[in-house]
Amino acid sequence: MKRLDKFLADAGCGTRSEVKNVIRKGRAAIDGRIETRPEAKVTGEEEICVDGKPVCAGPEYVYYMMNKPAGVITATTDQKEKTVIDLLPDDLPGLSAVRKKKLFPVGRLDRDTEGLLLITDDGNLAHELLSPKKHVEKEYYAKISGELAEDAEERFQKGMDIGDDKPTLPARLTRISDSEILVVLSEGRFHQVKRMTEACGARVTYLKRIRMGNLVLPPDLEPGKSRPVSREAL
Ligand code: URA
Repeated sequence: MKRLDKFLADAGCGTRSEVKNVIRKGRAAIDGRIETRPEAKVTGEEEICVDGKPVCAGPEYVYYMMNKPAGVITATTDQKEKTVIDLLPDDLPGLSAVRKKKLFPVGRLDRDTEGLLLITDDGNLAHELLSPKKHVEKEYYAKISGELAEDAEERFQKGMDIGDDKPTLPARLTRISDSEILVVLSEGRFHQVKRMTEACGARVTYLKRIRMGNLVLPPDLEPGKSRPVSREAL
């Protein structure tokens, strides 16, 4: 059960105080009966109308994946810089102005990092995907310069000291060529791929996240573009 004002706000009919006014003015109806109490309870099974038009509640949470381009910061708002939330088109399915204000990126990619970024209003999911205890894998493709130590794979696998309180959790390094690698992490420390690579003698010159848990960056999702993704795909 949900309060009517919350139901209408979640459905994108306005802010909580705007919908309270709408309800108090007698513009909302539950199953054909005018309801003027914002606190009236609904299950969502009723026919709920505003100004005679049915309101669709929409899903409880929304999930979008973005192919983050370089040059954009992973934040919700910023005074000077363009953020990933600024990049989301207003006409994405399920996205209302009210909903957009609640969205946040799950985890952080550096400004110069590209690739898969999940954006949602579901705080529990964010916790599940980011907690190092849950071991959700994040996979990166990187171009590197310099020479990686011969034992780099082993050092990634063992976990290494990169100047933090604790050594890193075990990670997987795969060499594609002398200048390209794949890295799989199960935590998300600041500049982690760059710092682990540097600790093994090379420098990351390009970085792109290509997978988070089960979710793979689709090859046809161009940088800067976003699309909805189902909860089950995560
Ligand atoms: N590791 C990094 O170094 N940078 C990122 O953006 C993500 C992982």
